[in-house]
Amino acid sequence: MEQWMQDALQKTIDKFRKGTSIAARQGILPYTGEKGRFGPAPFDGNSWWTGGFWPGIMWQCYNATKEECFLQEALRAEEMLVAQIAAFEKLHHDVGFMYLLSCGAHDRLIGDTAARTHTLHAANLLAGRFNPEGFIRAWNGEDHIGYAIVDCMMNLPLLHWAAKQTGDPRYTKIARIHADTTIREFQRPDGSCCHICIFDPESGKVLQRPRGQGYKEGSSWSRGQAWALYGFTLSALNLKDDTYLAAAKRCADYFISHIRPDGLTCCDFCQPDEPELIDNIAGACAACGLIELAKLTGEEKYHASALKLLYGLHTLCADYSDRYTGVLQKCTAAYHNDGAGRHINILYGDYFYLEALCKLAGHDARLWMCE
Ligand code: GLY
Repeated sequence: MEQWMQDALQKTIDKFRKGTSIAARQGILPYTGEKGRFGPAPFDGNSWWTGGFWPGIMWQCYNATKEECFLQEALRAEEMLVAQIAAFEKLHHDVGFMYLLSCGAHDRLIGDTAARTHTLHAANLLAGRFNPEGFIRAWNGEDHIGYAIVDCMMNLPLLHWAAKQTGDPRYTKIARIHADTTIREFQRPDGSCCHICIFDPESGKVLQRPRGQGYKEGSSWSRGQAWALYGFTLSALNLKDDTYLAAAKRCADYFISHIRPDGLTCCDFCQPDEPELIDNIAGACAACGLIELAKLTGEEKYHASALKLLYGLHTLCADYSDRYTGVLQKCTAAYHNDGAGRHINILYGDYFYLEALCKLAGHDARLWMCE
């Protein structure tokens, strides 16, 4: 591991060590890192889809250091998320992000029956969103009955995990059908993916592919591309199936051909030159997928591209000072401002940055894996 990677990892862990007491004092699930404090989720309180990333950061730091402060903070955050399972109403397909990185991590790293049970509840919620026409419904509300989004590829590991835990193939079958639909209906011949497919919930026919969080219909939202890249890679790893490996490679090749010379990632790969919108979350997530893809395929270009992304983040956009509580700057929730943040720190970018650095150091907690 090169010195800059070691420095990046150490400084990131150091920053979050200080963050543990700040977050606990605020009593929130942090969403953004700001000056001396964290900001809460912009919408829907503790059921907002990003709630698992803070405990995920804590578990990765705990796995690396075994320091009690990380464990305690992970457990505090987990309690807030567990309360959402009982509340139920606002939960959505992103229970994979939320519960694999909190309860699932808890059970994986130190063994906990209650945490395992909560993770199984989350898997059942996700499976319960399956429409037998071939897709997992993303969001709630009458207007969204036929909506599926590419991001869901990152929720499928929860189903892979549940299948492994219970021996019940229904979870795997749902995950496979949804992933196959994603290849067929979301991935384009050039390897790019659309963000949203609206299906007729009765017939399963695609009605529309709106722009979603990207620049415009037909463009390529970089974070959606990163979700697909890492999500297909995880399906290939968890299911040991080359169909998903091939899909992951198509996503990766497209992503790699659009990495900026400085290693940063545009918010949408088809966006105009102005405004120059960057989304560093996309780069950090893609780096995780590329590192795993390099190991799966033995192809050096994937590893080299991951390092290019991480080096760009480390040298140009990582803040390791005490000024802000988060690390990666220039994170952007959506191309068209949706109120969830533009060119600021958003902590799920930090989660993937940390995970990628842990992978390079050889101690990733492997929170997305079914075994
Ligand atoms: N999963 C929603 C997003 O990436 O913003």
